[in-house]
Amino acid sequence: MSLGAKEGRAKACGKLIIAGEHAVVHGSSALAVPISRGIELECMERPGPLGLSVAPWDLEVVAGDGSLAAVALASLAQSLGVPCEGLFLGGESQLPPRSGLGSSAALAAAAARALVSRLGIEADEAALFEAVQAFERVFHGNPSGLDATVALSGRPVVFRRGQAPRWVLGPLPGFLVVSSGRPGDTRETVAAFAARLAAQPKEGSARLKRIDELVERAVDAVGRGDEAGLGEALSENQEHLAWFGVSNFALDEICSVARQAGALGAKLTGGGGGGCAVVLPGPNEQQVKKALEKAGYEVIADV
Ligand code: MEV
Repeated sequence: MSLGAKEGRAKACGKLIIAGEHAVVHGSSALAVPISRGIELECMERPGPLGLSVAPWDLEVVAGDGSLAAVALASLAQSLGVPCEGLFLGGESQLPPRSGLGSSAALAAAAARALVSRLGIEADEAALFEAVQAFERVFHGNPSGLDATVALSGRPVVFRRGQAPRWVLGPLPGFLVVSSGRPGDTRETVAAFAARLAAQPKEGSARLKRIDELVERAVDAVGRGDEAGLGEALSENQEHLAWFGVSNFALDEICSVARQAGALGAKLTGGGGGGCAVVLPGPNEQQVKKALEKAGYEVIADV
């Protein structure tokens, strides 16, 4: 899943947000679970500026090259107090980028752990969290810390800004992760959500409050093994996300195809505007998968 670093190597997992994305940026709670796909990096000594390469993404940057990833890498190194030269991070990602599955936080968490492991320096969870947030801030502007928490812990969590994580124990039902076939841009959708809230503060605040309630409902439903209740919470969450303008045609279509085929609930997951949807198939998994494939959508993971 995640965690641990040995001799300069580290792996961190991606995440699936079950409920509460975007609202969590504005102080509500969110429920997220780790996924087994992740990013693994090795930190090696190499002369020159600090470098980062992730082969499947064609990502190859060095500190100071002017790219956003290089700026994020330098912020992470600065936050950890490690030098921006003489080291290289290289590895593999099983996570598609810009998919709502927490690839940037997983990259930052793996990089932070690999660096401290290679250099043999002490960094507690709070220092690692700050380093991942420094990296995320470059890409997202205002990250809530939810993605960083899951990438670093590898545990299901109810997260609320400024509060200690509430770890979720007990079995979770199976979810499908369905790709919309288009990349999402979290910076854009976070800004769009905030703009909608600013333009319609009364209705926006009421919907934020409702999303917060839905997250608690979802957590209760997980605890009681009430899949139908969990599915209802997911689908209502999707209606609010759509009102805030962070869904799109493909994500809406995935949700309606899945529900018509018998899924208990469905919504976009992560930043939206593209990326993936999370579907709770319940007992009709095969039917739901078939209907989604027929409509042209790929189920990229069972969680
Ligand atoms: C992105 O994975 C989740 C958002 O809620 C942003 C955040 O929590 O920082 C959209």
